[in-house]
Amino acid sequence: MEGKEISQAVVNRLPRYYRYLGELMESGVERISSNELSEYMKVTASQIRQDLNNFGGFGQQGYGYNVESLYAEIAKILGIDQSHNMIIIGAGNLGQAIANYENFEKRGFLVKGLFDNNPALEGIMVRGIPVQGIDRLEDFIRENHIDIAALTIPKAKAAQMAERVVKSGVKAIWNFAHTDLNMPDDVIVENVHLSESLMRLSYNMLRIPKPDRGGM
Ligand code: NAI
Repeated sequence: MEGKEISQAVVNRLPRYYRYLGELMESGVERISSNELSEYMKVTASQIRQDLNNFGGFGQQGYGYNVESLYAEIAKILGIDQSHNMIIIGAGNLGQAIANYENFEKRGFLVKGLFDNNPALEGIMVRGIPVQGIDRLEDFIRENHIDIAALTIPKAKAAQMAERVVKSGVKAIWNFAHTDLNMPDDVIVENVHLSESLMRLSYNMLRIPKPDRGGM
């Protein structure tokens, strides 16, 4: 697997496989064929086989997939079989909402710290995590081995903040600020833009086939 270039389209589908396999496990399903998985996920069976073949297959002829071991393999591929220490910079509406969502921790993303430059927010607790002033940022990153920083600050501040955290050892930016960040190749940037998702929704709404209801 090492060294093989996997397309982002495949990577984008992996979390969905993971989620469905988790649901199957919860309902007690132990094994599943690619055809059954295909029906359940509304993805073609050949797509599933192709995607998983990128990582060595995991299925067995005449048996299908063992749900629990495929779930564990995908977790390993996604790197969520290990935990990641994360900080959130910007403890406003969005930063607090993310900090409040405890399910990220179940996936191994541990929110270790919450930072804001507004002194009025300093010391408030969000799900047991105190908001800290920004002056201790560098020390905190180093002392707590932080590898991910979520940026939920205004876009005008994002690039400068990204550089600052990367200098202290952060390896990946989860960027919510509506701006593109130019980072060195060894820094991973994942942009999350809900408004882009809404624009795609709007585009697709315009193209809904009109049902022929047989009226006048
Ligand atoms: P907000 O105004 O409630 O929170 C922003 C916080 O960042 C404030 O508490 C402010 O004091 C803090 N801040 C500003 N500059 C800072 C700095 N240099 N260092 C540390 N903290 C700093 O705003 P909200 O609604 O939480 O949005 C935050 C950002 O996320 C905005 O850029 C907004 O456009 C973006 N956003 C992105 C979404 C997405 O889907 N990507 C959805 C909603 C908001």
